[in-house]
Amino acid sequence: MNEIAPAPVKTLPDAQTVTTVKHWTDRLFSFRVSRPASLRFRSGEFVMIGLMGENGKPLLRAYSIASPSWDEELEFYSIKVPDGPLTSKLQHIQPGDEIILRPKPVGTLVHDALMPGKRLWFLATGTGLAPFASLMREPETYEKYDQIIMMHTCREVAELEYGRQLVESLKDDPLIGEMVGDKLRYYPTCTRQEFHHMGRVTDNLSSGKVFADLGLPQMNPAEDRAMVCGSLAFNIDVKAILEGFGLREGANSDPKEFVVEKAFVGDGI
Ligand code: FAD
Ligand code: A2P
Repeated sequence: MNEIAPAPVKTLPDAQTVTTVKHWTDRLFSFRVSRPASLRFRSGEFVMIGLMGENGKPLLRAYSIASPSWDEELEFYSIKVPDGPLTSKLQHIQPGDEIILRPKPVGTLVHDALMPGKRLWFLATGTGLAPFASLMREPETYEKYDQIIMMHTCREVAELEYGRQLVESLKDDPLIGEMVGDKLRYYPTCTRQEFHHMGRVTDNLSSGKVFADLGLPQMNPAEDRAMVCGSLAFNIDVKAILEGFGLREGANSDPKEFVVEKAFVGDGI
């Protein structure tokens, strides 16, 4: 007699199963989970994910989906906050564990929120790379733009590694490798450790160094579009610089030349 194995019991509401976990530094890790069959999202959007709290209530936080919309799993790139209510626990997840994922994607870092342009700039610090890890793997990015520039700044070299490996892997990606070709320019910088490119995104934009290094004209509203994701201070400073170049902030309902999203909600904000 054939025994039919019982379907796995999902113990949490909106439960998804962790498939892989990779620790990059003592402050950063990435992980992949199963994708709800019904979940549709636009590359660049975020969802609420979390774990069941000790009080029996879900402990949820906003997370950018770092995988592209076509991927059969979902990937996340996470900070480890030592005393953080969620990440002090989330950093210990293992394959086979379950997390909670509310399947309601939202966000402003989406292609629909920008008017057509020639070049697209992704400007990020820290885990602000996550939405761009999704968008760099999205075919629409390469269909819509001639050039894509990924500027990512961290304090230390090791904090760039997730992004570096991802960019490196794109060339050989069977699905989008050919589309990426030489359209994607990667400009990682460090601010507190010796590296071949140094300095804050803001300084490299305002001094014109990044334009000189990449042989590109200064950003202008006719050709350039930008998406920004970092701390609140970073977002405010980048916004002022982009506006100085003549770009205007857009939204889903009002596409313009750049869009901004917080990578996290800071202390006291
Ligand atoms: P919290 O109580 O949430 O945070 C404690 C403190 O840690 C904060 O006050 C802040 O100072 C610091 N902090 C929180 N998150 C970060 C971070 N990512 N980088 C640096 N410092 C931080 N976090 C991710 O790791 N990956 C993501 O893809 C991501 N996407 C987000 C998208 C949006 C729209 C927003 C608003 C936040 C996002 N966050 C992301 C932050 C995330 O929601 C949580 O704040 C984070 O997981 C820490 O949760 P916690 O409960 O451990 O600590
Ligand atoms: P710096 O080392 O000069 O402070 P953090 O870990 O504090 O979130 O910073 C991540 C990266 O973002 C660091 O390289 C940091 O540079 C940079 N950064 C922090 N604040 C800003 C800002 N307001 N404008 C530009 N870059 C910033």
